Amino acid sequence: MTDTDTPLDIYLVALPGHETALASEAKSLGFGPATVQPGGVTIQGDWSEVWRANLQLRGVGKVLVRLGSFRAMHLAQLDKRAHKFPWAQTLRPDIPLKVDVVCKRSRIYHAKAATQRIETALKDSLGVEISAEATLVLKARIEDDLCTFSLDTSGEPLHKRGHKEAIGKAPLRETMAALFLQQMGYDGTQTVVDPMCGSGTICIEAAEIAMGLAPGRSRSFAFEHFASFDAGAWDKMRSQAPTPNGPLPQFFASDRDAGAVKMAGENAARAGVGDLIAIIRQGVSELQRPDTKPGIVLVNPPYGARIGNRKLLFSVYGALGKTLLERFSRWRVGIITSDEGLAKASALPFKPTEAPVSHGGLRVTLFQTDPLP
Ligand SMILES: C[S@@+](CC[C@H](N)C(=O)[O-])C[C@H]1O[C@@H](n2cnc3c(N)ncnc32)[C@H](O)[C@@H]1O
Repeated sequence: MTDTDTPLDIYLVALPGHETALASEAKSLGFGPATVQPGGVTIQGDWSEVWRANLQLRGVGKVLVRLGSFRAMHLAQLDKRAHKFPWAQTLRPDIPLKVDVVCKRSRIYHAKAATQRIETALKDSLGVEISAEATLVLKARIEDDLCTFSLDTSGEPLHKRGHKEAIGKAPLRETMAALFLQQMGYDGTQTVVDPMCGSGTICIEAAEIAMGLAPGRSRSFAFEHFASFDAGAWDKMRSQAPTPNGPLPQFFASDRDAGAVKMAGENAARAGVGDLIAIIRQGVSELQRPDTKPGIVLVNPPYGARIGNRKLLFSVYGALGKTLLERFSRWRVGIITSDEGLAKASALPFKPTEAPVSHGGLRVTLFQTDPLP
């Protein structure tokens, strides 16, 4: 069951392959010890740490909180124990709720029947309305006869920062862009160039990091509807002034598509970083080296599996590699793609890669170089 004095188990959902990178980010932001598991990272803390995780972590997809657990060998036991569960510590009777049940290796194997028992207990003991359209989601996992309740404290997935109205054909998730930047060693002080910027995700994330802007500053979260929510303390946390990491670097985004350039500009302006990013329309072969200290080129070219024709893409990756090798001496390059053959077509000297990140049915890898010769 729950105990108000013990810290909460906070589960940070990661894209498979990005768990360790997320744990590093959590560490750098001062969260307590992290346990890495497939699909996420567990940390501990109180409710204010839950809010802070939602507000500040760039690489997390959702923040879940474990409310408590009990053994349930059969439906009558689930029914009885769910009626006794201290729901009112966290949930409010006036906020509708949806219940999501998963059963695994348990005597209770019928998720629909289990859902019905839990929903009835919530209605009877808390008086809450159960609705399939509710934004608040209570998750029950019945595994090895142990029923564990968790709450999704985020609501909308956290890659939705709340600034992007315009997106292209194959936008990179903000959470992925942020962790790939981190894996490139970006710390908010280096110049970043993205010559295939699409909706602008990479440069927008990089500029926000440089300015010390919290990724969740403009959006709302499910936890605002919990009984544990303290609006005054949250406002104070959210309104803390951003702290830039040092002198602001410059950001250069470009794309050959006029629509993408317009979209990236609008997205950057909405995020409040429009002044920091130079966004122009040009093909990758026209890319010039900026007049700054060597920095980072991070680019997410089209992948054959998603859009376009793979044969044509060989020449695009080839042109990208040629331009970078000729003009970007001493810059480090990262290419985000699901296609190793295409990455190799760039002829860039890649280091051994880390685990690919699974997303949208693809395994996406960051291919990175040391400073180019
Ligand atoms: C996968 S999308 C990039 C998505 C982007 N990271 C985002 O988050 O929206 C690839 C982009 O490369 C651009 N592109 C393709 N070939 C190009 C070329 N030869 N020169 C410049 N841009 C190119 C496309 O217009 C498209 O916007």
